[in-house]
Amino acid sequence: MEITLNELTKRYGNKTALNGVTLKWEDGVQGLLGPNGAGKTTLMRLLATLLTPTSGSAVIDGVPLKEKHKIRQLIGYLPQEFSFYPGMTVMDALDYLALLSGVKAAVDRKRKINELLEAVNLENHRKTKVKALSGGMKRRLGIAQAMIHEPKLLIVDEPTAGLDPEERIRFRQLLASFSENRIVLLSTHVAEDIESSCREVTVLTEGSVPFQGSIAQLAEQARGKVWTAEMDNAEWRAASQSFRIVSAVAKGGSRMSVRFLAESPPLAEAEEAEPTMEDGYLCLVKVRGKLQ
Ligand SMILES: Nc1ncnc2c1ncn2[C@@H]1O[C@H](COP(=O)(O)OP(=O)(O)O)[C@@H](O)[C@H]1O
Ligand SMILES: [Mg+2]
Repeated sequence: MEITLNELTKRYGNKTALNGVTLKWEDGVQGLLGPNGAGKTTLMRLLATLLTPTSGSAVIDGVPLKEKHKIRQLIGYLPQEFSFYPGMTVMDALDYLALLSGVKAAVDRKRKINELLEAVNLENHRKTKVKALSGGMKRRLGIAQAMIHEPKLLIVDEPTAGLDPEERIRFRQLLASFSENRIVLLSTHVAEDIESSCREVTVLTEGSVPFQGSIAQLAEQARGKVWTAEMDNAEWRAASQSFRIVSAVAKGGSRMSVRFLAESPPLAEAEEAEPTMEDGYLCLVKVRGKLQ
């Protein structure tokens, strides 16, 4: 399974949301990491054929994006905002979707749905109305509906928003096990969501891709640019004017240990730190006036 994008571009009026993106994705969980407004949802809606590109092209598992009907059979999509037959029970809603996706025999649908409900840990909520589920449960039902026809490409747009930590872990495991011989494309604006379960990270910012590679390679983007220093409040305020602060931990009194990004050794007493993936990401997503 492979996806290739070639100069894929989307404009809304004169706003360019996706700016000539060219890349290749292979099997596994592919993380799409970028700040709000970067173009993640736009890219996902293009791949789900819910939007038409302004220019450029994409091929999913050998099928050009233009062949909408074929593409739709290949993909499952969990939108960022989704609503889902609120008045139906979990079981009826999934049964209806399985029928729509072409599983004709009732026994096959029942078996498939039972497997899925177990996978997403909703087996005790078969008879619960969709509108009565918690936020996390709705997300899990959303993922079940996107997987029902066993798509070669599963697109999940910011799926971990609103999940508690345990649910996040379970959710990641579910996606990782589903991703064998398939691609799971997962978007997020939270660097720590891109855990080791992601085969690769693609960073998207302002409609362009400044980085694609492993988590370790993303961390390397910040090598030599991460510093820690002890500061008091006044020093911290001064530093935050010129440097990108990653974190500040109180040390007692008015002192704090500050981690920040800078191109060259910034203060006499600053020590260079080992970069993390999040540091690498922050280096790529620059804020005007800082880390030039
Ligand atoms: N329907 C639309 N019309 C005009 N601009 C849009 C539309 N949808 C998104 N945008 C703009 O395109 C950019 C990318 O948005 P989006 O793809 O939603 O980013 P993300 O999902 O990364 O937050 C943003 O600047 C957004 O305001
Ligand atoms: Mg979005």
